[in-house]
Amino acid sequence: MSAQISTLQEARAEYRAKLPKALRGPNIKIKLGAPTEPATHKEEIKKLFPNTYGQPVATIVEGDGSLAVAPMKVGVVLSGGQAPGGHNVIAGMFDALRAANKDSKLIGFLKGAAGVVRGQYKELTAEVIDGYRNTGGFDLIMGGRDKIEKPEDLAACKSNFERIGLDGMVVVGGDDSNTNVALLAEYLRAERSRTCVIGVPKTIDGDMKGYDIEASFGFDTASKTYSELIGNICRDATSAVKYWHFIRLMGRSASHVALECALETHPNITLISEEIHARGTTLGEIVDYITSVVVTRARAGKHYGILVVPEGLPEFIPDIKTMIDELSTILGKDEEYIHELQDHSQRVQYLSTQLTDHSARVYGSLPVDIQEVLLRRDSFGNVPLSQVETERLLIDLVWDRIRLMKSRGETEADFSPLSHFFGYEGRAAMPTNFDADYAYSLGYGAVQLVRANLTGYTVHVQNLTKPSEDWVAGGTPVTMMLNIEVRKGKHTPVIKKALVDLDGSPFKEFAANRDSWALNDDYVYPGPIQYFGPPEICDAPTMTLALES
Ligand code: FBP
Repeated sequence: MSAQISTLQEARAEYRAKLPKALRGPNIKIKLGAPTEPATHKEEIKKLFPNTYGQPVATIVEGDGSLAVAPMKVGVVLSGGQAPGGHNVIAGMFDALRAANKDSKLIGFLKGAAGVVRGQYKELTAEVIDGYRNTGGFDLIMGGRDKIEKPEDLAACKSNFERIGLDGMVVVGGDDSNTNVALLAEYLRAERSRTCVIGVPKTIDGDMKGYDIEASFGFDTASKTYSELIGNICRDATSAVKYWHFIRLMGRSASHVALECALETHPNITLISEEIHARGTTLGEIVDYITSVVVTRARAGKHYGILVVPEGLPEFIPDIKTMIDELSTILGKDEEYIHELQDHSQRVQYLSTQLTDHSARVYGSLPVDIQEVLLRRDSFGNVPLSQVETERLLIDLVWDRIRLMKSRGETEADFSPLSHFFGYEGRAAMPTNFDADYAYSLGYGAVQLVRANLTGYTVHVQNLTKPSEDWVAGGTPVTMMLNIEVRKGKHTPVIKKALVDLDGSPFKEFAANRDSWALNDDYVYPGPIQYFGPPEICDAPTMTLALES
């Protein structure tokens, strides 16, 4: 950590994260509900997880319980992309461990899952943790995108855990990492290891929710950071009155971040990938829609505007989605061969013989830089969409349309587009009070599940639109959230990403207003995140959570 900290960080270090009432006292017990099962693929999942299938939902309540009070050693790893609140999960875990027994120890594994497999870790003491309370980023122990999946990785984890003497291991991550929690928990149970494995729902994308999990931590801060920036751009647009701003927002797959920012700022156009997919809208139709808004606004003398596009859009446009799925299957068998080809044109040539004719045409029509990114996959098989400049592609396509219309005398629109991508600057931001409290409570709750000797659970905290003292913490069995998906051409158990629900209140609120937002300047300027002041300004949840509740 830097030797010098800002005045705000200094003040934030003093902030005491708020806990649900049931977690505050020394007497905590776990109430177990009825056995659970996944919504689909029951038999297949039961076969894959014979030792952890069907576990009951757990609720943490006040009361004299039989939770472990002997000194414990618990490990923690931060997996995947940064999300504001990660350090508070660690602080919550540390405080919970010390509240139960002052000799307990917290072990931080370095650089994500790779550190767990390699056994690279450091002990997290009070002195170290105190400097990171309520800060953004994952820099205390760093993150990483590796996964624990291969038999040798699982075996390495077991022997590392035995060597260190871990009672529990907490994996902070999104849908893929929580799927790994199920795999690791099952393996350790089968091997009669004493280490329990618990997941914590993290991702700014907001798509790790459902099954008692109301939100992932980080979504609140990231969406509010982007909303501040979008609001500022709206203000600039109405001041300069000459630019169209095309803004791409992070969020790998689901459009929750884009939808939340639309509700908070009212841009003229927001594309929602899930709607585009449901309607089967083509890229050409998307361009038609954007052009019509640009032209209609120009007719009213407004040669400026704001468009928000979610990062995940390409995977939801039917033609592109089919082509990406075909590419994934091809990469599943020929990845090495394709990447060994020296020249990109050789790759395109090879792929044209492997893809269906239609997909080959779609692939060939994309700019080379996008073609190249579509050939990359992370260790979870995901396309690195944060590197696909969809906003620039849309600008080029709309430009072509407008030029054509101008040449035919059909519009006098002055189209001066600017492109922006807001991603990394939001996901390492200093957490809001909401994320600071929520992440701390998740960490505190995760330790209670370990103390109860539960394994293969994702910790949850509910009632999030109420004041934090009324929040309720517990655990959701991961096997209950699993379904089978095809990844890299293989049937794989995964937690289904929660996409934007087109019948849900947040989308309906957006859909009811978007025509007015398109033509009028109904912009809202949320301003920067506030940490000190009245709770209605500083502690408010996202509009998504408020509308969903
Ligand atoms: P997680 O799902 O791991 O939380 O990551 C979210 C995210 O920030 C996405 O929004 C984005 O597409 C991706 O990470 C970027 O990945 P990378 O950090 O590898 O560039």
